[in-house]
Amino acid sequence: MPKIFVTRRIPDSGIRLLEQKGFDLEVSDFDGVLPRDALLRKVRGMDAILSLLTDRMDEELMDAAGPQLKVIGQFAVGFDNIDLKAAAERRIVVTNTPGVLTEATAELTVALIYALARRIVEADRHMRGGTFKGWAPLMLLGNDLTGKVLGLIGLGRIGQAVGERLPQMKIRYHDLNRKEQLEQTRGFEYRELNDLLREADFVSIHVPLTDQTRRLITMERLGMMKRSAYLINTSRGPVVDELSLVQALKTGRIKGAALDVYEEEPLMAPGLAELSNAVLVPHIGSATEEARSAMSELAAKNIIAVLSGQEPLTPVDMM
Ligand code: GLV
Repeated sequence: MPKIFVTRRIPDSGIRLLEQKGFDLEVSDFDGVLPRDALLRKVRGMDAILSLLTDRMDEELMDAAGPQLKVIGQFAVGFDNIDLKAAAERRIVVTNTPGVLTEATAELTVALIYALARRIVEADRHMRGGTFKGWAPLMLLGNDLTGKVLGLIGLGRIGQAVGERLPQMKIRYHDLNRKEQLEQTRGFEYRELNDLLREADFVSIHVPLTDQTRRLITMERLGMMKRSAYLINTSRGPVVDELSLVQALKTGRIKGAALDVYEEEPLMAPGLAELSNAVLVPHIGSATEEARSAMSELAAKNIIAVLSGQEPLTPVDMM
């Protein structure tokens, strides 16, 4: 029977699918990201690995697994932790879990946009801190979303779902590809990146992490944004130069930011946690019961397909 290693406990639904197939299954019982040496040991002799975004799946790991390794089934839509070239050279199929976490991630993004606009986190602190002395006409004023410009960097599944959930906003987008159908049906308008940054009241990032998108948001680009604008990042931390963002927030160069992802998770750039105009959550974009179960099932189905000699449902394009 083919051997499968699951690098950390995930929702049961996918595990059950793998068990039903009678595979020789091992789920890591380590409560955390498996240390590198343990991971290299555990993958030895495996036909499939169910990986997480916190596992570095590189050449060394693929060679440690051995030439029988057929598939890496990633439990995430992003796959920047996987060396696709090394996988292709070894004829290892890589799959991910697109589609099933679109709503969850889009809804978190929308929640962060509202949290920034209405200063929800600051207001909560005010209340708990015992500093609320009664209703006041100038207390904790935020901003309306109606009529404001939402600039989406990346108009894939998640970016699109965010735009569709905020019909009261004017949606502008930048993407490598024009999405003419969405322009016609939804009224989304295309902009060059720098023009988008200059025009938007809220900028939300929805690109994968690639060589082209690493540090896409630099100090220079933050400087193009309106002083009254907000930045939201639920994609990957390294897309934003986090130290520059701290500087921009500190000096009031932009009004606020909400982050779900960080350059060096689980760490944060120095100074970030002290800023009252930052809303910070710990990489919970897809963290709903529904999305995580669906991700578990899709990752399992991809592995089952490849081990059964069939086409996976959602292969990563190896280019
Ligand atoms: C989460 O960050 C994912 O890529 O699914």
